[in-house]
Amino acid sequence: MYSTNSFLVFVMQLASDLVSSPTIVERGSIAYLNPAIGGGSMLENAGDGYGEPLNVIISGLSSPAVLKYRGAINYARAIGFSEECFNLHSGGFMSANLGDGNGWVNQTIELRQDYGNAGIGTCLESLIGGNHFRIFVQNGTAADSGALFLAVSQEEPLNENHDIIPDGYDIGRNSLVAAAVGKSHYGGIKYTTTAKNITGLLAPGDDRINHGIAQDGIVTLLTVTID
Ligand SMILES: *[C@@H]1O[C@H](CO)[C@@H](O)[C@H](O)[C@H]1NC(C)=O
Ligand SMILES: *[C@@H]1O[C@H](CO)[C@@H](O)[C@H](O)[C@H]1NC(C)=O
Ligand SMILES: *[C@@H]1O[C@H](CO)[C@@H](O)[C@H](O)[C@H]1NC(C)=O
Repeated sequence: MYSTNSFLVFVMQLASDLVSSPTIVERGSIAYLNPAIGGGSMLENAGDGYGEPLNVIISGLSSPAVLKYRGAINYARAIGFSEECFNLHSGGFMSANLGDGNGWVNQTIELRQDYGNAGIGTCLESLIGGNHFRIFVQNGTAADSGALFLAVSQEEPLNENHDIIPDGYDIGRNSLVAAAVGKSHYGGIKYTTTAKNITGLLAPGDDRINHGIAQDGIVTLLTVTID
């Protein structure tokens, strides 16, 4: 029979095995895995050695439909975003390495704040600026949490080259989270979202951050449940 101590040692060994061999993770069993464990980064690649912070994670423990391509778009619409203005892509592709064995992978989709009308509304965002995000999926076999990692930022209008406003990473994250938390719905699907802040994943400051805009290092974990 295990003594309390040897049981504790067993549990700690199990925990360290989990950390050192993320391959045993099954989708739906964990919120996310720290990309650094698998050689990835919480900064996506914006070129020239700079990146943008992955400052929101949609938990792998969310309802599975939310983590799929169409489901993520529907959820984004429920919280006030939609696909880019008539698929006119103006922000450039960026890639991320989520430490899941897939290496550097292009964003799945980029969504912009929707000023009232999915389609036309995002054109308005492109013209007047606003909030937007790129989605990356942690679904490689080495860390298959299924979590969505979002690079969220508040932009300047198009005529200013889609630059980020001062403090635009933290502002973008906070306004997305404010819109997401609680109840929302779109296309007949109802969502309940809870938020939790995580520190220690992302270094605060502006080191290697695109546009040299400092951020506070907080990553907000959203758990989205379909009612
Ligand atoms: C990423 O997207 C760019 C732009 O479409 C494309 O040129 C590049 O080949 C893509 N990279 C990967 C790894 O898919
Ligand atoms: C991982 O997610 C991407 C983006 O949605 C998708 O294209 C790809 O098929 C997914 N891979 C697996 C193994 O589910
Ligand atoms: C997370 O941190 C931000 C920035 O400090 C704060 O505004 C927000 O209220 C926090 N959210 C939660 C759920 O703790």
